This record gives sequence, C-alpha cells and structure tokens, in this order.
Amino acid sequence: MLFTDTINACAEVAGILWQKGWAERNGGNLVVNITDEIDDTMRRLPPLAPAVRLAVPLPALTGRYFYCKGTGCRMRDLARKPMDNGSIIRIAPDGASYEVIACKPIMPTSELPSHLAVHHKLVETGSDKKATLHTHPTELVALSHLPQYASTDELSRCLWDMIPETRLFCPKGIGVLPYAEPGSEELAEGTLRLIVSHDAVLWAKHGVFSIGTDIIDAFDTIDILNKSAQIRCSILVAGNQ
Ligand code: 13P
Ligand code: ZN
Repeated sequence: MLFTDTINACAEVAGILWQKGWAERNGGNLVVNITDEIDDTMRRLPPLAPAVRLAVPLPALTGRYFYCKGTGCRMRDLARKPMDNGSIIRIAPDGASYEVIACKPIMPTSELPSHLAVHHKLVETGSDKKATLHTHPTELVALSHLPQYASTDELSRCLWDMIPETRLFCPKGIGVLPYAEPGSEELAEGTLRLIVSHDAVLWAKHGVFSIGTDIIDAFDTIDILNKSAQIRCSILVAGNQ
C-alpha cells in the first residue's frame, strides 16, 4: 500500500467507528506499521519531542515506523484530519524507546503497550498483518457483562452459531480477557497471549482488539463478530435464552 492510501484507510475506518457508536469521545485507537511505505525524506526527519522509553524493550521493532492515533484524540476528528489527530513514531535503534517524527508532536495512544507488543510478535513471525485496532463495539461489550459469556469457548461458540459468516471469517474465535486496567502492561500481556490463537480479543467490560493485513481488514473482523453479538442481544431482549 502507498502511505497516503494507508492514512486514507485509517480516516475511513475512524469515520465508520464513530458512526457505529463505537468511538465515544476519544474511545478506541489504531496503529499501523508503515515501515515499507515511507520515503527517505521521512526517514531523515528529526524528532519533534523527547524520546519516550518503552516499559518492555521490543528489539524486533528496531527502526520501524508506525502511524498511531493520538492519545485523547477523537476518531471523528481523525476521520477528517488524520495528521492532526495521529502521528508517526520511529522505534529507536536499541528497540527500547520511540520518538514522534511527524507531522505534529502528538503523543500516541495510551494503549500503545498492547499495540506494539502485538506488532512485535507480527514482525518477529514474518506475518503479513500490518494493522492493529481497538474499539468499543456496544453489543460485544454488553455480552462481556454476562457471566455465561465470560469464557473464550462459550462466547466464540455463541457468536459462530448466529450467522455463517462468523465461523467462515473468524474461525479462531474471540479470546476473552478478564478486565484489566486500560493502557496497562497486564492488558498488553493478555492481549498478546490471546491474539496469537484467536481472530480478536475481547477486553471484558471495555472493548475489542483485532489485527489485519490493513486497517480495513482489522475492522471487518470486529464488524462481523459484533454483528453476531447484536443478533444474540436481540434474541436475549426478545426474552429468549
Ligand atoms: P486513547 O485516547 O489514549 O487512544 O485511549 C482511548 C481508549 O479507548 C483507551 O482504551
Ligand atoms: Zn478503549
């Protein structure tokens, strides 16, 4: 993909998330590995802010570039002005810190630990997946409040049973992670542990995290899973179990 196509796709998905009601205020975030899409001019850009140390060094990400939603920024604003509501970061040569290099000194999302931990695994394993997405899909979060869907097996089976697309496009199911503090290393560790064997991870009572070849692909996975969750919620509201 070209860099401009990637940024336009991020803007498109951000607009959809807002319209779906999955991105209240600054809710949700996205991070895309753009290392293969940038030119030498961008590579030579000086940092716009002091380097920030990573809690856990990520050696496989050395010298890699990522477009990240800015922390506190709104998806509905990113949809219109992606470079005013997100920034590009570069991982330092020692893999232990990052710098914001463009276009404005906007600090990346507070969920960077989860996003970068997963990108580290994707690069390490030679995956073709370049995008990670976290959003707050209403019905999946609603189901995570019900004890009967607190386990990966129960929730995945329930979602597969709703429509054929879910088993077809999400054959590995959704991993359920018990509530963990937003932005924490605990959340990042749990997400990494579950995403390697599932299509997405449900952050109980918070939101969902997915990966994709690009940001549209990452969105589609959550969209299909939440469609199943919507149907399940409708059945429950109609008084059926
Ligand atoms: P950020 O604004 O830092 O991206 O946080 C939003 C969010 O959804 C945290 O889980
Ligand atoms: Zn969130």
